[in-house]
Amino acid sequence: MRQINDISSFWLPFTPNRAFNAEPRLLTRAEGMYFYDETGRKLLDACAGLWCCNAGHGRKPIADAIAKAAHELDFAPTFQFSHPGALALSQRIAALAPEGLDHVFFVNSGSEAADTALKVARAYFQKIGQGSRFRVIGREKGYHGSTIAGIAMGGIGNNRKHFGPLIPGTDDHLPLPYDAATMRFTRGEPQNLEKYADALEGLVALHGAETIAAVIVEPFAGSGGVYGASKSYFQRLRALCDKYGFLLIFDEVITGFGRMGHAFAAERYGVTPDILNFAKGVSNGAAPMGGSIVSNKIYDAFMAGSGGTHNIELFHGHTYSAHPLACAAAMATLDIYRDEGLFEHALKMEKVLEDAVHSLKGTRLVADIRNAGFAAGIEIESDPKAPGRRGLDAIKLAFHEQDMVIRVGGDTIALSPPLIASESDIAKIIDGVRGVLERLT
Ligand SMILES: Cc1ncc(COP(=O)(O)O)c(C=O)c1O
Repeated sequence: MRQINDISSFWLPFTPNRAFNAEPRLLTRAEGMYFYDETGRKLLDACAGLWCCNAGHGRKPIADAIAKAAHELDFAPTFQFSHPGALALSQRIAALAPEGLDHVFFVNSGSEAADTALKVARAYFQKIGQGSRFRVIGREKGYHGSTIAGIAMGGIGNNRKHFGPLIPGTDDHLPLPYDAATMRFTRGEPQNLEKYADALEGLVALHGAETIAAVIVEPFAGSGGVYGASKSYFQRLRALCDKYGFLLIFDEVITGFGRMGHAFAAERYGVTPDILNFAKGVSNGAAPMGGSIVSNKIYDAFMAGSGGTHNIELFHGHTYSAHPLACAAAMATLDIYRDEGLFEHALKMEKVLEDAVHSLKGTRLVADIRNAGFAAGIEIESDPKAPGRRGLDAIKLAFHEQDMVIRVGGDTIALSPPLIASESDIAKIIDGVRGVLERLT
């Protein structure tokens, strides 16, 4: 038997592996607002793990629910079978979604949810006799995961450009509703963004509405650097989609389950998409789960399909779709959100985070500060010779000197504390970020 004792056996995702392996960062335990490293050092979690541990870490009811499920029903196929956990969870998620979105297709991640939305949108138009509609319009800096469909609909250059031809019909992106010349250091949601939605008209003129199936956007661009928008922007997008018969897909993988003070940002903006994707917070990060919540109009079109009822309506799914352990984790997570009022708490704390993060204005190297929901982005001036270097240094400084785990995209620090964060936790996070900025070279 070969013995391998080499740190490089684990090829880390979205990580500069050579730099990491030279100076690894290990997390070995987590509880509440904190991670712990192998020496027992406490590290404040400024990013809810990876935008997912909204109820904080180490929540016993979730762990207990997972353990119970593992003993009771370790696995059940959901191809041709169902189980009580999946049924209960789908009903509960549908009840949290806007009216008219009553059907949940489960997957295991946000990326798979992006694939699901793309496939459902295209297949829907085939079902209703409009098969010429195949394009899905994304948005600049959009992030919809790392599968080919996710990166194709996404609008982040580094995620797309290394991988050759992507998916036909996914190369068009709406502009990000942001103008660096006029919108730096905006507090809260920027306004008067309708013209950025109106850019859809240009794509209609270019391609013809009859080739466009859907538009996919995040309520705020998270991984792209925390860029919010406003109610009127989303209402304009909805109106344009209605005008041309496009489906509107909200990717709420980050914004779902409390990050915007509601179960979904759709509720905050009073805009009902046709497909709403979720993942991350649904199970508090304790078990992989994601899904697409689909409108009754779409679901009914599939169910009305021609041929006998022995026909499969959607040729799509995953071995672990609605895995019993993930369903149990999600049910326990939703109980915590409800019982602790965490969505309401997040809504209240938005302003606290906004005031705290904007106090960093004027700190050296800070190029912009944005906040959206209970999240914020601090854009660091890039080193012109090495873009991304300061972002990586920020992670290292936060970890080694400020006892903090932060998330960085490029040179932007993204803060998304667990929703349980108190005012003093936020103050600590901002002090830590200030300490990092002061030491960056
Ligand atoms: C908006 C959005 N969509 C999709 C994804 C992909 O989710 P996953 O990493 O679970 O595949 C992410 C992940 O950060 C995301 O932020």
